[in-house]
Amino acid sequence: MKIILAGATGLIGRALVRRLRNDDHSLILLTRDRVKVERFGDPSLQFVEWDARTVGDWTHFVDGADAIVNLVGESLAAKRWSASQKARLISSRIDSTSVLREAIARARRKPEVLLNASAVGYYGDVREGDVVESSPPGNDFLATLCVRWEQAARESEKHGVRVVLLRSAVVLERNAGALAKMLIPFKLFVGGPLGSGGQWFPWIHIADEIEAIVFAMKNPAISGPVNLAAPEPATMRQFCSALGRAMGRPSWAPVPPTVLRMVLGEMSQILLTGQRVVPKKLQDAGFVFRYSKLDGALREILR
Ligand SMILES: NC(=O)c1ccc[n+]([C@@H]2O[C@H](COP(=O)([O-])OP(=O)(O)OC[C@H]3O[C@@H](n4cnc5c(N)ncnc54)[C@H](OP(=O)(O)O)[C@@H]3O)[C@@H](O)[C@H]2O)c1
Repeated sequence: MKIILAGATGLIGRALVRRLRNDDHSLILLTRDRVKVERFGDPSLQFVEWDARTVGDWTHFVDGADAIVNLVGESLAAKRWSASQKARLISSRIDSTSVLREAIARARRKPEVLLNASAVGYYGDVREGDVVESSPPGNDFLATLCVRWEQAARESEKHGVRVVLLRSAVVLERNAGALAKMLIPFKLFVGGPLGSGGQWFPWIHIADEIEAIVFAMKNPAISGPVNLAAPEPATMRQFCSALGRAMGRPSWAPVPPTVLRMVLGEMSQILLTGQRVVPKKLQDAGFVFRYSKLDGALREILR
């Protein structure tokens, strides 16, 4: 397959690129920073520079592509959520998704599928009950952002493209993302649950995240929202206890919600809210998770 990947120099993209290269697909990476692509050390990777917000010469690469994967997004944990940072979180996602739609509109031969990042934050803070793909959206900042992001992606359906919305949980990887940050207090023997500990903390092992994306790419029956989360959800307290066990460290020092709100401002929402997300669509389609249990997933990542 000829596959266009945007935002593929990040945590998820790097692993996805390696997986797709193993299958000998032809990959074209859209990036703002060619040095990040050079770091792959794979001369067979083609890259094209873009700014992720304007239509340019890069659009003709979309013509004749079989699939597009869009993983672009300013990191939610990059900075405190000032008004200008919030605008950046929104525009990096909506603008990139919109210009890809424009490139699809211009292509003579359209891609079969667009896989567009989204997040379980779509559902907002849900205390009770399971959350499946048909569950309603929340109304906090992240949920509203995800709703707009998904609407922008769905615009490509008008061009006959199958659109898959990757509603991902926190992706567990040792050296990047949320887990890398959470390891630090545990290494210093001061780890513990963030907030009350009772909030849901949906998670997925990076290997399952990647296989689920490839599964959705190759399965024409899958479209619309797809929950990318391990089938056995954990609360924050359970997650931190499992992390302590996997690291041989205690999980005893909780960080109260007020402290998190003070230090992180509105960004604390990422840690203080959650949902019991169930990967219904993937499971109904026969996807088998390699890491459905948290202890096994963390042991494998931290070994
Ligand atoms: N990791 C998770 O746990 C998780 C969970 C749920 C949802 N997601 C979503 O999935 C997507 C990929 O996640 P990830 O963890 O791989 O992200 P990441 O490591 O932060 O990388 C995202 C990529 O987006 C591009 N980018 C970053 N800031 C940008 C900006 N201001 N404007 C335009 N492009 C920008 C960069 O690519 P270039 O520098 O090459 O242009 C970067 O490599 C994101 O949209 C994220 O919100 C991630």
